[in-house]
This record gives sequence, C-alpha cells and structure tokens, in this order.
Amino acid sequence: MRRILVTSALPYANGSIHLGHLVEYIQTDIWVRFQKLQENQVYYVCADDTHGTPIMLKADDEGITPEDLIARMEVEHKEDFDNFLIEFDFYGSTNNLATREIANDIYGKLKNDAKLISQTPVEQFFDPKKRLFLPDRYVKGTCPKCKSDDQYGDSCEICGNTHVPTDLVNPYSVISGETPIRKTSNHYFFNLSDDRCTNFLKEWVSKPDRLQPEARNKVAEWFKDGFSDWDISRDAPYFGFEIPDAPGKYFYVWLDAPIGYFGTFKTLCDQRGIDFKSFVDAAKSKSSQTELIHFIGKDILYFHALFFPALLQFSGYRTPTQIFAHGFLTVNGKKMSKSRGTFITARNYLESDLNPEWLRYYYFSKLNSSMQDIDLNLDDFLSKVNGDLVGKFINIASRCAKFINKEFSNSIGPTKDHGILKEILNNKGAIAASYETREYSKAIRIIMSLADHVNQYIDKKKPWKLIKEDKDSLLVVCSTALESFRILSLYLKPVLPQTCQEIEKFLKIKPQLWKDVDCFFTSNHQISPYQHLMHRMTKKNMQKLTNQHANEKGTSPKSHGGESPADSNKINVMTEKFITIDEFTKIKLKVARIVKAEHVEGADKLIKLQLDVGQNKLKQVFAGIKSAYSTDELEGKFTIVVANLKPRKMRFGLSEGMVLAASNEKGDIFLISPEKGAKEGMEVK
Ligand code: MSP
Ligand code: ZN
Repeated sequence: MRRILVTSALPYANGSIHLGHLVEYIQTDIWVRFQKLQENQVYYVCADDTHGTPIMLKADDEGITPEDLIARMEVEHKEDFDNFLIEFDFYGSTNNLATREIANDIYGKLKNDAKLISQTPVEQFFDPKKRLFLPDRYVKGTCPKCKSDDQYGDSCEICGNTHVPTDLVNPYSVISGETPIRKTSNHYFFNLSDDRCTNFLKEWVSKPDRLQPEARNKVAEWFKDGFSDWDISRDAPYFGFEIPDAPGKYFYVWLDAPIGYFGTFKTLCDQRGIDFKSFVDAAKSKSSQTELIHFIGKDILYFHALFFPALLQFSGYRTPTQIFAHGFLTVNGKKMSKSRGTFITARNYLESDLNPEWLRYYYFSKLNSSMQDIDLNLDDFLSKVNGDLVGKFINIASRCAKFINKEFSNSIGPTKDHGILKEILNNKGAIAASYETREYSKAIRIIMSLADHVNQYIDKKKPWKLIKEDKDSLLVVCSTALESFRILSLYLKPVLPQTCQEIEKFLKIKPQLWKDVDCFFTSNHQISPYQHLMHRMTKKNMQKLTNQHANEKGTSPKSHGGESPADSNKINVMTEKFITIDEFTKIKLKVARIVKAEHVEGADKLIKLQLDVGQNKLKQVFAGIKSAYSTDELEGKFTIVVANLKPRKMRFGLSEGMVLAASNEKGDIFLISPEKGAKEGMEVK
C-alpha cells in the first residue's frame, strides 16, 4: 500500500473558481479517487491562498477586513468544489496557525542553520497617498519602448516589452492614480544563487519521474539563465505573516503559500491522528516511504520546481516526490476572456443546469500527462456527453435492464457470454496504467471502444427479437450486458462518482473497489427496477451558458429581440442574476447639483441639464424627465449621476452621464436625490 499526500495548487482567495481552475481540481480528484479505489492510503488536501496585496486591497475596496473577505471566499470555494464532486480530505486556509508555525520554522532554519537568508536594500515605487509599496501590476504608465499608454509595470501588452515599473514613462499608481515615488527599504532574500542550492536543484530535477520531460526542459532553460536570490519579504502594510525577528516585514505570499500544503495537512493529521512527521520530515519520510505529489498549472512551475524544494531541502523537510504540471484551458480554441464571454465560473456553469459530471467526463477525455493546453469546444462537449457518455455507456443499461426487470423478475441469469466479458477484463491493466500516468484520454479511448463492443454485441443479438423467440438467450444477453456495464462503471468510477453510486444502487452491489472487477453477479442476483441514470445535454443548456455570459458583458435584453417566447424566460432569469461587488464598484456614482435645466428644441421628453459634479467640473446630461419636472423646479436640486458612463453623442449634443430616477409602468418619474447635507462631487457607494 502506498502512502501519498496529494495537493492541488491553492486558489487565490480574491477570485471565484472558474472552468480553468477546474481542469486542475478535476484532474487531481480523478487521480486521487483512482488511488483510493486501489486501496492506497491517500490524503488530498488544498486550501485558499489568502495572503498578499491584492487580497488586502480588495478587502479595503469592499470596506471589510481581509479576514472577513477570506472567510467569505472560503465558503464560496468549498461550495463550488463540493458541487463538482472534488473530494478533499481537508480544505483549509493558508491563514492558519499551523502554516505560520511551519513558515517560521523553515525561515529560522534557513537563516540560523543553513545561513541562506540575507538582507539587501531595494528601491521600489511607493504610493504616497495610499502609503504602500506598489507591486509591479499596480503601477501603470507609458511603455518605454513603444510609447503605448496604460501599460503595466512588468510588461507591455502592445509590444510585449518586459520592464520594471521604474522604466515606465509617466508612471501612476493604479490604486490612487497618484504619481508614485521611489523609496528604498530593506528586503530579506533567500539565497537561491548559492552553490549549495544550485547543485542540489540540478540533482533534484534530474531524477527520472520527478518532472515531465517538458517541465524538465523548461527548468533546464532556467538553469542556463542562472538564478538570482529570491526576495521573500514585503513591507507593511501587507496581509500575511510578519517575519519573526523583523517587525513591519512580512513573508511574501509565495513563501507561505506552498508551506500551506503542509499547514493544511497538519490540521488534518491532528484531527485524524495521522503521523504528520512521517510525511513531511526529511528523515522520517524516507524511512516510511511516504510520497508527496503536487498537481499544478504550468504557470507556477518555477515556484514548485525551484523555490519550494530548495526551501525544504535546507530546513530539514522532505521535498516533493513528483510534480504533475498541466496546461491551460482554452474555450473554443481561445484563451478564456471576459470580453468574449468565455470566462466561465463554476457558478455560471451550474446556473446553466449543466451536470458537473459532464465536465468531469469531458476533461477526462481530453487530459494527458503533457503540459499542452486543453480546449473546451462547446460543440464537441455536447457531442461527447450525448454521443459517448449517454449514448454509449449509459445506453447499455437502458437497453437491457428493462428485460431483466420485466421478463425475469429482476434476476440476473446464471449463464453469461464470457467472450466479451473477458475482453473487458483484459483491459483492466491498461486502464489502470492510464489512470496512474494521467493519460486519461487513453483510458477513455479504451473504455469507449469496450462500450462500443458491448453495444455491437447487443445489436447483433437483438434482444427485442429474442423476447418473442428465445427467452433463455434473452437472459444470457441481458445478463452479459449488465455485467459488462458493471465493469465499465467501475472503470469510470473515479470520473463519475455520483452516477456510479447510483449504478451500484441500481445493480444492488456494495461499493466496488478496483479489485472487485471480476466479482461477477452470482446466479439469481437481484437488481432494482431501472431508473433513468443520466440526462442528455440540450442545446438549451448550452445557450443558457453563453447567454449568461452575454449578459455579463452588458448586452441588454433588447438585443435578444428576435428570439422565441421560450427564450424570454431566460432573459428574466438572466436579469435576476447576481453581479459581483467588483462589477458594481465599476460604476462611479456621484452627487451632482443641477446648475441649469433647459428645454431641448425638438425633443418632447428631454431636458438638458448642466450638472456640477464637484471640483467645479460641469457635465452636460440629457435626461428623459420632461413629463415630470419643470426646468425651474430642477435648478438647484441635488441628484445622483453615473459619472463614468461613456459620453454619447446625441442629436442635440453630447451627453456625458446619466441621472438616476425611479419610475413605474404608468410612466411616473421620480428623480433620486440624496439626503440634505450631501454636497456635489461626493461619491455614492
Ligand atoms: N495561489 C496560487 C497557487 C499557490 S500554490 C502554493 C495560484 N492560484 S490561482 O488561483 O491563480 O490558480 C490555481 C491553480 O489553477 C494553478 O495551478 C493554476 O495554474 C490553475 N489555473 C488557473 N487558471 C487556469 C486555466 N485557465 N487553465 C488551467 N489551469 C489554470 O496560482
Ligand atoms: Zn510597448
């Protein structure tokens, strides 16, 4: 029996789980479930990655503490993972005591024993208004090379130039809009450039099976460039762990994030009485032969194949046994994108009434052990689910079960056709090997060709004819088909845990383990009446998914004008959909004072308003409120204006915003005004 600690990368606590993330969690979950079916002792842990500037700023934006934000996100993430049947043994947070203690321990050993920590002054941009050092992505400005405006501090999206924030022309802070100032402070570094680290890593990555060949090549490129020391500290204000002997200095989030794997596991060990040290201590893990396996995306290979093992090696901890890196998800051949409507969250998927097992199945059919990207092609998705999963696999049971139910009072017969059963059993080893090596697409090819053979067998034997001509043969054929179905469902159990549980109930068998593959039904084994096991995906499901996204892009219901009445339902559902706080805060609402109100020649509904929106700035807005207000009563009134609405050229002139009003079906209009005391320019939040 193997003893394995398995992890997936820890999702950041400032974003929702999306279909890209799920590539990783589904891939890992399938692997873990397969190991458990093999009766290996596996622990699958994960956690929210909770530290860093973006999380601190997001909480600040929402007016809550980072602790409140991460608590809320943890609940959301856990719910999403549950829905997609990702079965962690424990899901935690990096912001816990165990992770802090291990981080401190590792840091202390690196500093005092290994002498691999040093201090160096670093000059960085500092936001004088927000009073914090700005990470590269929080500085924007004009690209020093191509002179494009609004480019990030680390790279230019127009010409691809990579630079440091201080290279930017006219830099500004993304947070406050202020011009950042240069400021120097002491940072702590992990000496990755030390010969001991380099030599260790060279040997560590060269072990066969440690990394996939592509990952090893990537690492080899990094070796060529040589390593710089790694900056592991950030200055206050920062949300994270304060460095023990350095007040005001915090561990950079990427230092404690991977340590969070151990911290999370520690909590599980305490709960279940598992020997933690036998999994994480360098010497003890060797003697107990425990394994540590990390599933990650290709974008975070650097941290997992270099920084993390080096940290562990020089602080007395065990290093990872294997790192399994995967590629990125594309949707319909392109990078997921908000503007294309293909940035699909776990929730968008569920809200479209799509079955989570369909996605598990689809990813399973596409994944292999390489780092190539995988594509979610929505047409292919529909055809794989309906054609293969339902049409081939589930179909076996729906074609044959009713005969056993009705003609033989639910009893499986004593005789079966062993030719086809043997063929299915003979593939057990190949399928297991494909699971083990993460060649999932190979496993599905084998399983689906076996399902084809069973369907061909049924086609050839024609049970619908045998029912009239030869009941004995009918029993043999249907019993054989259901036995085949049982074995195939075991082969698919790691992928479709819920459906396979239903199948076990229907077949009235105990939960199957991998070794039960040849535990045939005994003669006269009783099954339950067949009930529908899985629906087909409809075009409507798919439309729902894409329409939801159209809505998120801001497409108004009007643009659906040409659709059938059935679709108007969907529009209602769509407008009921929640928006995120981020989406809401994009809208800048301000108090405005109506300085002047005039009738517009030739417009029977409009009034032209001059609004004072603070700092003596005037905005011109055309408002459709003529039926309810005279120009006189408007002047001097305070109202609320959408201040960042894109200016629109109208027949009568430029409209630079929109005032808010309530209305009813009859057409009554009530302008929204703030309480007494509010002044022009105040923000409405
Ligand atoms: N918090 C870090 C990981 C710390 S691990 C100690 C992080 N978080 S993440 O939320 O950005 O990503 C979590 C995992 O999901 C990563 O392995 C990442 O590669 C993976 N994916 C994120 N987007 C993805 C796709 N579009 N496609 C496939 N995997 C993707 O990185
Ligand atoms: Zn550029």
